[in-house]
Amino acid sequence: MRVCITGAAGFIGSWTARALLARGDEVIGIDNFDPYYDRAHKERNLAELRSQGRFAFAETDIRAPETAALVAHCRPDVLVHLAARPGVRASLEDPAAAADINVRGLAVMLEAARAAGVPHFVFASSSSVYGERPQGPFKETDRVDHPVSPYAATKKAGELLCHSFAHAFGTSVVALRFFTVYGPRQRPEMAIAAFARALAAGAPLKVLGDGSARRDFTYIDDVVDGVVRAIDRPGGCRIYNLGRGETVTVMETIRALEETMGRKAVLEFGPGSRGDVSLTSADIARARHELGYAPRVSLREGVARYVAWLRAQGERA
Ligand SMILES: NC(=O)c1ccc[n+]([C@@H]2O[C@H](COP(=O)([O-])OP(=O)(O)OC[C@H]3O[C@@H](n4cnc5c(N)ncnc54)[C@H](O)[C@@H]3O)[C@@H](O)[C@H]2O)c1
Repeated sequence: MRVCITGAAGFIGSWTARALLARGDEVIGIDNFDPYYDRAHKERNLAELRSQGRFAFAETDIRAPETAALVAHCRPDVLVHLAARPGVRASLEDPAAAADINVRGLAVMLEAARAAGVPHFVFASSSSVYGERPQGPFKETDRVDHPVSPYAATKKAGELLCHSFAHAFGTSVVALRFFTVYGPRQRPEMAIAAFARALAAGAPLKVLGDGSARRDFTYIDDVVDGVVRAIDRPGGCRIYNLGRGETVTVMETIRALEETMGRKAVLEFGPGSRGDVSLTSADIARARHELGYAPRVSLREGVARYVAWLRAQGERA
């Protein structure tokens, strides 16, 4: 199979590309090295992919006409659209950029896929579409009309765009709502990466709020397994939660890191971040039944694997 992945130099994109190459697929990666975080981090993600014969890479912006031309030229069997300006805080600082990349960029890619006759489209949505709610688990059938950050609004808008393409053009499209993905190569500003860095340096861990916020942390290998299953299941227009299906508090996450790293954290509590929600919690029954998705990695195991990876990179952890 030939698969085109946008955001291929990023965290989830580079692991997805690796999994597809490992099973014999051909992968065309697209990424513009968006300055949201360090280019060197993304170059490292790409390094092992670049050495493989069935991997091609283009440094280009999803909104640029040459990207649509590239899709038309490659005519992949599936377009996996992961490129985005991620992050709630970034979207509060520059909502127009988030909307332009995440919504207009998606529309350009949906249209490029349609025009090129690409049979199947997979879109990276987010648990943030569920907004602020006191109780979980969150189901795909729940109403998601109250996003609390511009980022969440761009992902909800993205799902609506996908639906409109499925309706108007019969595009086969799957939107995957990822729940706080972590593991090797994760984005440097995300909680587990930032906490591990601070712990290793003996610096205070900056906790936003009182540490009681609950997250459905999902290990990267489980997410990639779900993405690959969605790639293999064309037809119709479907939304799936890809979470672990268990929630832990921020404090429990810090304790797991402390135990794994054998260090004691110095905590610095600050005000909760605007746009962040107090709970994410995935009901994964639909993904289980329809995709055969079965997350396996517990938070403790995932944190242990992440710390082992940091150490293997020569980081103090
Ligand atoms: N990591 C998570 O916990 C999580 C949770 C929910 C949703 N998501 C979504 O999953 C996707 C991947 O997330 P990630 O954590 O791997 O982020 P990431 O930032 O590591 O990867 C995204 C990649 O897209 C690229 N990109 C950004 N704008 C682009 C543009 N205009 N043209 C071409 N490439 C561009 C970036 O350079 C980056 O390499 C994103 O759509 C994100 O919103 C991630």
